[in-house]
Amino acid sequence: MNVILVAAECAPWSKTGGLGDVAGSLPKALARRGHRVMIVAPRYGNYAEAQDMGVRKRYKVDGQDMEVTYFHAYIDGVDFVFIDSPIFRHLEQNIYGGNRVDILRRMALFCKAAAEVCWHVPCGGVCYGDGNLVFIANDWHTALLPVYLKAYYRDHGLMQYTRSVLVIHNIAHQGRGPLDDFRIVDLPENYMDLFKFYDPLGGEHFNIFAAGLKTADRIVTVSHGYAWELKTSEGGWGLHGIINENDWKFRGIVNGIDSKDWNPQFDVHLTSDGYTNYTLETLHSGKRQCKAALQKELGLPVREDVPLIGFIGRLDHQKGVDLIAEAIPWMMDQDVQLIMLGTGRPDLEQMLRQFESQHRDKVRGWVGFSVKTAHRITAGVDILLMPSRFEPCGLNQLYAMNYGTVPVVHAVGGLRDTVQAFNPFEESGLGWTFDSAEADKLIHALGNCLWTYREYKKSWEGLQKRGMSQDLSWDNAAQQYEEVLVAAKYQW
Ligand code: GLC
Repeated sequence: MNVILVAAECAPWSKTGGLGDVAGSLPKALARRGHRVMIVAPRYGNYAEAQDMGVRKRYKVDGQDMEVTYFHAYIDGVDFVFIDSPIFRHLEQNIYGGNRVDILRRMALFCKAAAEVCWHVPCGGVCYGDGNLVFIANDWHTALLPVYLKAYYRDHGLMQYTRSVLVIHNIAHQGRGPLDDFRIVDLPENYMDLFKFYDPLGGEHFNIFAAGLKTADRIVTVSHGYAWELKTSEGGWGLHGIINENDWKFRGIVNGIDSKDWNPQFDVHLTSDGYTNYTLETLHSGKRQCKAALQKELGLPVREDVPLIGFIGRLDHQKGVDLIAEAIPWMMDQDVQLIMLGTGRPDLEQMLRQFESQHRDKVRGWVGFSVKTAHRITAGVDILLMPSRFEPCGLNQLYAMNYGTVPVVHAVGGLRDTVQAFNPFEESGLGWTFDSAEADKLIHALGNCLWTYREYKKSWEGLQKRGMSQDLSWDNAAQQYEEVLVAAKYQW
């Protein structure tokens, strides 16, 4: 089958979160299964690997004519195509920058150009054709793609055999705006109804995700837990009605991880500065060395016996950073060290800096995003905290388990799917979970975790080893995506 995955971000070139990781790794796993796969993303910077293909096209967005060009690289069996336009350039550090209308214009142009990519970009002489083609669109940013496929092609007898799958990574962002935004997406008047949406949250408004969910041939979300939550009024953020109506085409598939990039045996960020690569067999000595290197690098007292706790993520309400803040006084009464890495809300960034200055021998708050530091924290800490209020899948807990780091999570969405609670009687499970987003629940779970870390070394090692022994690669998930692609193609 020919597959074109379309996403607003794609690691390692552009990434603000898990979506970028998925876009960078799912295509490779599908290619390994024998499919012809392309990923299309905007060209936000000068990507050295990708060559200008010399194709120029013009599209109308918000009444304006805009030119795009296409850049291409062939890596690990996948065609990477980057769409270039002055409106994407120089956004490398801030890919969702600008106001609502700016972002909407960018995404409209991107989706228009991506929908025709199979006609304009001859990848190594291979034609993606439109007969055996399925698009995979991701989140609201590319939810216009299924709509354009319908409005510009299928409703005119073109691309009759092309299908689309829309993946929900996060329903909290929907591309909402006033009804007047319709003029920006440049569609005939009779498609307005697809976008017009009413809910008590936003009144009557323009909603891109709603239009995409209605028109895509299949809908996928990134875990089973989140698939369930999306159908409830708390979890669907207003769109639960549409999701329930389209239940027949909806399915949850838990994300995989890139088992080359995020593998303690091969991790390139662990080869210098005192860090080391390690495997299940060398877990004990390897992790000890990485922990000491991390403590040293961040200027914390180098102590093997102290439990080292990590947090990596956007500093916002979703990630539950404020619950950690509430738990800080308790945590600082314990003999622990805490490292937090992330960017986001200015008040939470400020809070991180403040924790660090108040507890210099115990806390490091790193405001920023550094891929290298994220890898090193994952390898060096003993415990990873993820108190997310909601978490469609969550990748950091998967990375953690692959590195022998034990997760403590709020049991929602993908966190509930992937972190089975530790059972001391059976010596089973992978970490600690708590069932509501409250600081005292987090403290309770973390307290039990710390106690096990200190008193029950064998149990701790069991947790680490079970985590590392799982197959968290994309292979399994790619097979399930393939089932969805086939179902979309033949419409059963
Ligand atoms: C979003 C979600 C996260 C998920 C990721 C990849 O960032 O918030 O839970 O893991 O997408 O699907």
